[in-house]
Amino acid sequence: MSAYCELFNLTKIYPSPKGPAIIVKDFNLRLTEGEFVTLIGHSGCGKSTVLSMVAGLNGITDGGIILAGRELAGPGPDRGVVFQSPSLLPWLTAFENVMLGINQVFFTAPKHEREQIAEYYLSVVGLADAMHKRPAELSQGMRQRVGIARAFALKPKMLLLDEPFGMLDSLTRY
Ligand SMILES: Nc1ncnc2c1ncn2[C@@H]1O[C@H](COP(=O)(O)OP(=O)(O)OP(=O)(O)O)[C@@H](O)[C@H]1O
Ligand SMILES: [Mg+2]
Repeated sequence: MSAYCELFNLTKIYPSPKGPAIIVKDFNLRLTEGEFVTLIGHSGCGKSTVLSMVAGLNGITDGGIILAGRELAGPGPDRGVVFQSPSLLPWLTAFENVMLGINQVFFTAPKHEREQIAEYYLSVVGLADAMHKRPAELSQGMRQRVGIARAFALKPKMLLLDEPFGMLDSLTRY
């Protein structure tokens, strides 16, 4: 049976002053639908590099990635990403940050349905009372939760979470 997602011979070489640095070499991974996989390794071993290549945000030096029968080239709404440190648009509220992607992906849905999706996911991450605040008025952990809501709200085929709970306390993580 073919895998739902397959990383084959994934390789990343970054240029460096001392010459090309091989960060990831011939990394292979097969995932079935619904599978949850955690990459563990020391700081700097290349976890975020692999994740950003799957997200389509970082060029692939060699090898490739297939998702749902299609070879990936560039980013797309089929993959949701929660970054190690959240990047939100500072001039928009938490709600508006989450709505950005929803408006792009679910553009055929009526406005009130799109707003309900944003409200639902912001409530799930415990931000029901803070969703109309701007990033500067939120704590780091709250910003990270906006990032989590933003990724989950698009119902992507694949969720790529780069240490998404790093800034959350144990109760909020749960
Ligand atoms: N854009 C880049 N240009 C050059 N080198 C890079 C770049 N991004 C990452 N690296 C290097 O690649 C290596 C792997 O980095 P990466 O961020 O993938 O590590 P990581 O496993 O996610 O680490 P951490 O657990 O600290 O997040 C590091 O040595 C880093 O210096
Ligand atoms: Mg990392």
